[in-house]
Amino acid sequence: MTDYKNSKLILDTANLKEGTMKWRCPSNIALIKYWGKHGIQLPRNPSISLTLDQAYTETEMTYAPKRKNDVEIDLDFFFEGEKNEKFEEKIVKFLTGISDIFPFLKQLHLTIKSHNSFPHSSGIASSASSMGALSLCLCSLESDLFGTLKNDAEFRQKASYVSRLGSGSACRSIYAHAAVWGAFGEADGSSDLYAIPYANHVHEVFKSFHDDILIVSQGEKAVSSRAGHALMEENDYADPRYKQARRRMHHLLLAMESGDLERFGTITENEALTLHALMMTSNPSYILMKPNSLEMINRIRRFRKETQHPIYFSLDAGPNIHLLYPDSCRDAAKTFIQSELLDLCENRHWIPDQCGQGPLQL
Ligand code: PMV
Repeated sequence: MTDYKNSKLILDTANLKEGTMKWRCPSNIALIKYWGKHGIQLPRNPSISLTLDQAYTETEMTYAPKRKNDVEIDLDFFFEGEKNEKFEEKIVKFLTGISDIFPFLKQLHLTIKSHNSFPHSSGIASSASSMGALSLCLCSLESDLFGTLKNDAEFRQKASYVSRLGSGSACRSIYAHAAVWGAFGEADGSSDLYAIPYANHVHEVFKSFHDDILIVSQGEKAVSSRAGHALMEENDYADPRYKQARRRMHHLLLAMESGDLERFGTITENEALTLHALMMTSNPSYILMKPNSLEMINRIRRFRKETQHPIYFSLDAGPNIHLLYPDSCRDAAKTFIQSELLDLCENRHWIPDQCGQGPLQL
């Protein structure tokens, strides 16, 4: 089993110079959802996602010798240009938790500056992009200081592993276009510990696939993903759900390989609704969709039936609708969004996005 603990990664700080690294990491949309976990952020079922492009986090990390010796992790954290104590506390906890992977973190003073391309309050989950960007910076830091991780595959696998520890879904954001996370016999090299790149196994149509995010509500979620995963432990549908996810992975991987959009869309939509059904059947039960989410779903299905355009939806753990469609439908989708969906968006807010190239070192 891969174990990244490495007590040898200790610095000689006497001659340490300051340095900076910066990464942009996009968010991703799961098609087969990861919902339910065990152990240390291990998934109960395999998942597959498309990596987005315009919804991203940029993180800059500067290091210097440690200044405060009375703390384990000496960090200043800035979010959207301002010092943010709440996020700082979370990141300190995360960095402390992975200090057996990167022991040198306890020898440094770190300044981390992070910002999102989308408004923090837009209701878009930023944990995938932010944990992805942070983990990529940490791997670059190790690479710069110790000359390790020179091979791209090795570098990304470690970044994916580390980001998984921060937020499960983040581990899939490390790769361009599409990624699979969770051991699954039909995906060679797949693992519960990190995601693997999957772009080479999917039809070209998905490389330019669109995922427009229609903001139904910008409010903070009533129940966090962390609490949602925990509620799966007592959910009566948990075991059949995990079996269903495996069956669906099989069918979806085939559909994505052949470019069968109808099959792709049928599975993807049902997955999104299954995720929300699991929330509704948790104890206590909760509902994250809003009336306008349902109205959009009805309008999308009606539009598809009337026009035969392969335009489908997905949802994350929130009320916002992700509109998924191939590039060949871009004009029809734009007209549809403007005439039928924007009036259901909060402040007519939407984020046009698409499948992208994955993280970028800046
Ligand atoms: O990564 P987490 O722990 O925030 O969980 C997110 C889970 C979903 O976004 C709902 C589904 C997924 O696979 O991304």
